[in-house]
Amino acid sequence: MKELINFAHRGAAGHCPENTMVSFRRALELGATGIETDVQMTKDGELVLIHDESLKRTTGREAWINDVTLEEVRELDAGAWYGAEFAGERIPRLDELLELLKDRSTILNIELKNGMVQYPELEAKVIQAVRRYEMSERVVISSFNHYSLAVCKQIAPEIRTGLLYGEGLYEPWKYAHTVNADALHPWYGAVLPEWVAAAAEEGIAYHPFTVNEPQLMQKMIDAGVAGIITDYPDRLAELLSPKRV
Ligand code: G3P
Ligand code: MG
Repeated sequence: MKELINFAHRGAAGHCPENTMVSFRRALELGATGIETDVQMTKDGELVLIHDESLKRTTGREAWINDVTLEEVRELDAGAWYGAEFAGERIPRLDELLELLKDRSTILNIELKNGMVQYPELEAKVIQAVRRYEMSERVVISSFNHYSLAVCKQIAPEIRTGLLYGEGLYEPWKYAHTVNADALHPWYGAVLPEWVAAAAEEGIAYHPFTVNEPQLMQKMIDAGVAGIITDYPDRLAELLSPKRV
């Protein structure tokens, strides 16, 4: 059986300010074998890693990403809100994360945050960056915007895609075929062992989010998921490590 992917959600978001380079590096130190991040686009078309459309929560600036330039974004502090010791952390460009991972075996899950804002050419730009770093085989592009996933597959059939959803989607492994998705990225409450098995029959992997409690992690492992997205890659690494007798 393939090794379960330990995806660090927004980096090690349980320990560091989410979606910052310190958070990504920490995730690797803590045993993550995958990293999940959120990508959005600035006014001047640059790809940056931030979860919210608004800059307010993590930087204090009252503006949306698509209304400011990269230069303005780079002046903001994305670490101080989390703790004084993280002051000075910046909102990273996608390229910085690709650079960090390019010589490793880490799987990268890039979530396209284009539900509220329709960023022009977001799919093409992300794919171009992934190809430039020759990381197509190690990337999974996910989104709650399933139209966008269909577009990704049209542009880049070689890059895996993951379908993000909440609960209640009926036979999602069948629906996944309609956009040619390779994986299901459900909220963890929408995971049952029989569904994971049915999806596996069709070659579709389950990567649930955001699983932070060890008991719940174990439940997902027992259900047979291929990966788990967590704010605490250290907890998952501990669970997955061979137990000493
Ligand atoms: O990709 C899994 C998870 O990150 C989806 O939700 O809101 O944390 O980006 P969110
Ligand atoms: Mg996300």
